Amino acid sequence: MEPVTLDLHDPALLADPHAACRRWREEAPVFRARLGAQVVWVLSRYDDVKDVLADPASLMRPPGSGTPRALGDGAAARMWNSALSMMDPPEHTQVRRLVGRAFTWRRVEEMRPRIEALVDEVFQGLDGRAEFEVVGELALRVPMRVICGLLGIPESDWAMLQAWTPDFLRIFLPEAASADDRSRLDRASQNFMDYFGAMVDARLASPRDDLTTGLAALYADGGLSRDQLVGALRGLLTAGFETSAATITAGCLCLAERPDQLELLRARPDCVPAAVEEVLRWETPVRAHLRHLGSSRRFHGAELEAGAAVWLLLGSANRDPRRFPDPDAVDVTRCDAEHLSFGGGRHFCLGAYLARVELQAVFSRLARRYRAIERVTERPRRRANFQFPSLEELVVRVR
Ligand code: HEM
Repeated sequence: MEPVTLDLHDPALLADPHAACRRWREEAPVFRARLGAQVVWVLSRYDDVKDVLADPASLMRPPGSGTPRALGDGAAARMWNSALSMMDPPEHTQVRRLVGRAFTWRRVEEMRPRIEALVDEVFQGLDGRAEFEVVGELALRVPMRVICGLLGIPESDWAMLQAWTPDFLRIFLPEAASADDRSRLDRASQNFMDYFGAMVDARLASPRDDLTTGLAALYADGGLSRDQLVGALRGLLTAGFETSAATITAGCLCLAERPDQLELLRARPDCVPAAVEEVLRWETPVRAHLRHLGSSRRFHGAELEAGAAVWLLLGSANRDPRRFPDPDAVDVTRCDAEHLSFGGGRHFCLGAYLARVELQAVFSRLARRYRAIERVTERPRRRANFQFPSLEELVVRVR
């Protein structure tokens, strides 16, 4: 099958990605596409996407090949090689076991009261405000407080770390990035490496009661290499705030545009966990994700060879009507947590439980505090990134 060229910067695609996903799901559930210099198979239906995610033979890296050529041999390549999310067994198994100790449900449940107190502090900053800007004043502040609190990153550094992140996110599909995007990615990677490298040195010299000190001890014991440690810290930070912030913003938008859902949530606080899952399904902060097939597979009559790159449209799978009735509607009582927003298989989001606790704390306070949320921003602007499409600004009026 000849690949079609898919321009991820196409304004029409970015303006209405759900229409494109709907068309692919119905008319071309598997097709070959050229994304910049990379050729991939695109899968858009729920069952197919879930199947590849869960397949133990699926790999993150192209079998037998090294770092993507588009990354060059500088800081971005080093960051790619040290990212947990890019590793395969046995390295993935070893690093995930060590880093994952901090994120078991038991550890996170122990943290719940602290997380709720941090969320309360953020909402206290909005006391008496009739209007606020959701992204900067609420959505980024909550996960930043939580993850930076865990890692021991001072508040004075948050803005700088946030500013590096959008450029860094191009690392997940470097072949489709422009030359300018790639040089910004390299700069952002170097910044993260220097920042976390210095932090590790500081903790080794003078330990504190934070997760960075705990992980630095694993490096000192020889359990993690220095690059693995720096990669893990960077991963926890960027994976931890970007996606949660996108979900909080999407939740506010949903409740602003659907007063009936806010009313429902106010009347039935027990629906908060379901509402979190529904917003995660509906918005899907990581809209697409790459895997490589460990063995050849057949989808809808097409033979996908072993080693093929497969682009999994998580956002499309989450709106597949074969799996979710009336998928474009938001229903906070849907009670279906089997969306694919946290990925699946051995790479299933390490911070999913933490994210859920954080998001539940935010959604319950939104419902408790506000009788009405109105959208003030007429056309909320989205980031021009098909894969990570979060809103950039959203002003709301609250009562
Ligand atoms: C709404 C919030 C979040 C969403 C939607 C999300 C989504 C994802 C997705 C799609 C993946 C890839 C899974 C796969 O390859 O199958 C992932 C991996 C990961 N996430 Fe999250 N995430 C969220 C929050 C967090 C938080 C709060 C943390 C950490 C504190 C975190 C840490 C990680 C890590 C370390 C990985 C890599 C796991 C591995 O490769 O083994 N995430 N996440």
